[in-house]
Amino acid sequence: MESVLRLRTVPFLIVSLLFLGEPFIVPATAFHSGGVGDCLGCHSMHAPAAGTEKPAGAHPASLVGSDPGSTCLSCHLKAGETRPSSHRIATADADMPAGLPPAQITPGGDFGWLKKSYRWGGDPGEAGGSSPGERHGHNIVAADYRYTADTKNFAAPGGTYPADRLSCISCHDPHGKYRRLAGGIIGTGGAPILGSGSYEVSPLPTGTAAVGVYRLLGGKGYVTSLYGGAPFSADPPAAVSPSDFNRPESDSDTRVAYGAGMSEWCANCHAALMGESAGRKVHPAGASVKFGADTASTYNAYAGSGDMSGGPATAYTSLVPFEIGTNDYSVLKSMARSDGAASTGPDANANVMCLSCHRAHASAWDHAARWNMESAFLVYGGNFPGIEDPAAPPGISQGRTRAETRRAFYERPPGRFAAYQRSLCNKCHAKD
Ligand code: HEC
Ligand code: HEC
Ligand code: HEC
Ligand code: HEC
Ligand code: HEC
Ligand code: HEC
Repeated sequence: MESVLRLRTVPFLIVSLLFLGEPFIVPATAFHSGGVGDCLGCHSMHAPAAGTEKPAGAHPASLVGSDPGSTCLSCHLKAGETRPSSHRIATADADMPAGLPPAQITPGGDFGWLKKSYRWGGDPGEAGGSSPGERHGHNIVAADYRYTADTKNFAAPGGTYPADRLSCISCHDPHGKYRRLAGGIIGTGGAPILGSGSYEVSPLPTGTAAVGVYRLLGGKGYVTSLYGGAPFSADPPAAVSPSDFNRPESDSDTRVAYGAGMSEWCANCHAALMGESAGRKVHPAGASVKFGADTASTYNAYAGSGDMSGGPATAYTSLVPFEIGTNDYSVLKSMARSDGAASTGPDANANVMCLSCHRAHASAWDHAARWNMESAFLVYGGNFPGIEDPAAPPGISQGRTRAETRRAFYERPPGRFAAYQRSLCNKCHAKD
């Protein structure tokens, strides 16, 4: 029988090295290089000069796009790109017509899912359902690409950040000032930034050179002109991405080594979701929510619904990541791989984090969930459910085509799961 959620990598690796055009190295074209990129990549000298009339609502900083989000997407989205491609994190509208999924499959996820709305009819005797695009993640504002604010969440749930101000720069510092200095200290000054600190091939900081923080994220004190109401109180997480991070996970997982601090960073805007508050029950997450021996052994044994034959050497799945519980970059760099070479599961010191269940940008499912949290089955009769499959009940396919569902699983084949695979909450809890 097919082993489930396990990795068969070696033959694929050889094939991919021979045949894939994309080089196996970090950014072919460096732009930010861990810090501030070329000013003219984002600022336009052709924008109306200071003192002259600007269009109503125009951003004051003379950007190449109508707003900060559009400025980022001028490079991070490429019209006509229908394959995963390095730093792209969104697909153009014309490249994802109804029934076809967005193309980019990065750890954060393709914002294109925000434009995919689904409805389905009920099974006999049951109501149908819907999954509006805006539920699928962070609704960044980027007018040039028709991304608009969430109409239901007026602010970050569990916080105050206004939804109509949410942009790429709400989370990422456009000037990349935050840096990791020797000794793991994070600051906005001191030694100059040598390059990105996000990758397994990134240099380690020294006394005379710093590296960028993980993914140029904002740190303590971070505010933008969009909203000054809640300066960040937590620094970026300790994490390392493999340099080959935007790729199908058909033969091996893309393992970002999450070390520590991700949930605490999300809590910059979602503070109340870190604990139980105001009568809302939320799943525990953060540095103190250790797996312990029991959850670690469940994760390591779980290979699919009804199948506990797995082992710690191959247990890891990027559909249910966890924090290793360290900020030691030599450990993290050794764990960030895309070729299946670091598939070990958690030990008792690992902890649950927000990204154990959510993606940072967007996903195919409500609440940017990594898997569909609102369906009894993820795989049905040995295949991904899709509306073209008469055997899959509408409440299971939920308006998605099979191609969309498969993309939502980052192109894993359905045989990697049980024939009737249930929720991946079971990876840690094994109630199925
Ligand atoms: C990756 C895109 C990007 C790059 C590269 C970039 N900027 Fe900016 N810059 C922005 C955005 C977006 C804002 C608006 C920030 C806000 O609204 O808080 C901005 C704002 C500014 C501002 C006004 C507000 C402030 O933060 O002081 C100045 C001045 C500025 N940039 C100068 C520069 C210079 C000089 C460079 C090159 C060394 C540069 N920028 C490179 C995106 C960029
Ligand atoms: C002129 C093109 C261009 C623009 C504009 C641009 N980027 Fe990038 N971005 C790139 C390229 C190329 C890379 C990969 C190489 C690198 O990191 O330097 C990248 C990488 C990144 C990364 C990963 C960096 C790392 O070290 O992990 C983040 C995060 C990012 N961009 C965010 C943004 C945001 C936010 C904006 C808007 C404020 C923006 N980018 C605007 C071209 C651009
Ligand atoms: C709510 C915060 C948030 C917003 C808004 C956001 N990002 Fe990110 N972004 C993150 C985090 C966190 C990661 C790291 C994800 C991971 O490693 O799992 C990330 C990762 C990335 C990466 C690396 C590739 C990937 O997906 O892992 C790029 C490039 C990037 N973001 C660009 C952007 C751009 C461009 C925008 C706006 C269109 C944007 N981000 C909006 C938080 C955000
Ligand atoms: C800069 C503030 C900010 C940060 C940092 C931030 N968020 Fe959010 N988040 C928001 C806002 C504002 C909304 C409401 C607007 C929306 O849903 O598009 C939101 C909504 C959400 C939603 C609900 C989406 C939906 O449609 O139901 C989830 C899930 C979420 N955030 C998770 C996270 C996670 C996980 C992180 C850390 C990786 C994070 N957020 C970091 C501001 C933030
Ligand atoms: C164990 C999985 C899990 C973890 C860990 C988790 N969440 Fe969620 N989250 C969910 C599920 C499932 C839902 C949707 C069901 C619900 O609303 O309770 C959700 C819903 C949300 C929403 C939307 C709530 C709303 O009112 O619209 C936000 C925002 C959110 N999560 C943020 C976070 C943040 C921030 C963290 C980390 C501090 C986190 N989540 C940790 C599973 C998780
Ligand atoms: C990455 C591992 C992981 C995943 C995935 C996960 N959990 Fe948990 N869960 C834990 C840990 C660790 C605890 C805290 C220790 C314990 O009670 O076992 C916990 C606690 C709980 C609790 C006890 C509630 C409380 O507030 O103390 C419930 C209920 C729960 N999880 C439900 C879920 C559901 C539902 C999902 C899927 C949406 C889920 N879990 C996904 C690891 C996980």
